Amino acid sequence: MSSQLTVGIVGTGLFAKGSHLPAYQAMSDKFKPAAAFNRTKSKAEAFAEDAGIPKDKVYDNLDEILADDSIDFIDALLPVQFNAQTVEKCVAANKPVILEKPISATIAGARELVKIAESTDVPVAIAENWLYLNSAIELKKHLADIGPVTAFTYNSTGPFITNNKYLATTWRQKPEHIGGFLSDGGVHQLALLTEVLGEIGSVSALTKQVRKESGTDDVVFSTVKMKEDDVIGTFTYGSAFGSCEKWTYFKLYGLNGSVTLNLSDKKKPSITKIVGDSAETSGEPQTIPIGELDSFGVNEEFLNFYEAVVKKDKTLIKGTPRIAFHHLACVAAFLESSSKKGDNVTVEQP
Ligand SMILES: NC(=O)c1ccc[n+]([C@@H]2O[C@H](COP(=O)([O-])OP(=O)(O)OC[C@H]3O[C@@H](n4cnc5c(N)ncnc54)[C@H](OP(=O)(O)O)[C@@H]3O)[C@@H](O)[C@H]2O)c1
Repeated sequence: MSSQLTVGIVGTGLFAKGSHLPAYQAMSDKFKPAAAFNRTKSKAEAFAEDAGIPKDKVYDNLDEILADDSIDFIDALLPVQFNAQTVEKCVAANKPVILEKPISATIAGARELVKIAESTDVPVAIAENWLYLNSAIELKKHLADIGPVTAFTYNSTGPFITNNKYLATTWRQKPEHIGGFLSDGGVHQLALLTEVLGEIGSVSALTKQVRKESGTDDVVFSTVKMKEDDVIGTFTYGSAFGSCEKWTYFKLYGLNGSVTLNLSDKKKPSITKIVGDSAETSGEPQTIPIGELDSFGVNEEFLNFYEAVVKKDKTLIKGTPRIAFHHLACVAAFLESSSKKGDNVTVEQP
């Protein structure tokens, strides 16, 4: 295998064009888009032209692309109900595969995908770009200063965007993936939260559908308890409201202070830290800007996958199916709790 990996792109829609292709082009020493397949072939042909993929490498189905020995790995960006069957075929063809989040449409599909991925040495990764944010790395550096974390509040809320390009995709309008936008976007927030604090153990939640366009419940208000320690918190998510500021705040309360990540403006995140064990001993708030790259973790996730493929070592993968399972399982737990009027629900394991 040469140090430049050839990529077969499966599903040449919005995110393939707007995010994965620019990532490959920015790291052209490591990646070369070399084949494509899309349900609507004309879209794959247009994508191929932009990506410099020869016309004869635009295939009619996944099997054809998998049979092409010149392709080093598959990058799949499909409605996620197709993820498990895509992994099954890639693994059978001995082709490493990276798939877009959430891991699957259902917990059963996610469990199946984890099982297939863990029964092979072929690298399988879920492209959860929020796992790679500097925000998580920087936030973790400050936790020791505020003493043991006791509680947190995570709030990612915003106004409904009528002309959101993603809303126009038919598979999002009639979601087969649980929770619709709650899993589509919610897994990003849960990736960041759990990357900093570890897994969520149990939840009590209420969800509801605010917008008919969402196709299903689109907001969640919850209280959660972490799995490994005594940390409790709240998790609130939804972009279905009327006019309001777009917020993404993650505030961690420790015995010796607090740190707050403000990711509301993705281009200008910051952390504010206040150290002290009481009002009387409180230091001054210190605000530290964080550098976040324009790719917002996408380039980093591909670099991580590159290492795993080149070194033929799936243990190097950060966005493992098992990790991504947890993010979807939290959404499933929110929905189950809400269906039981907010009863406490344990987050399922793979
Ligand atoms: N990480 C992130 O921040 C992020 C952001 C956006 C999207 N994503 C993920 O990227 C993936 C693609 O999303 P997108 O926004 O790019 O959506 P999209 O534009 O609708 O692309 C989906 C692609 O899948 C194809 N497809 C749809 N239904 C299919 C079916 N029944 N059988 C086979 N192919 C089918 C579509 O083909 P047609 O051309 O025939 O419709 C389309 O090319 C999703 O998994 C999504 O969650 C991730």
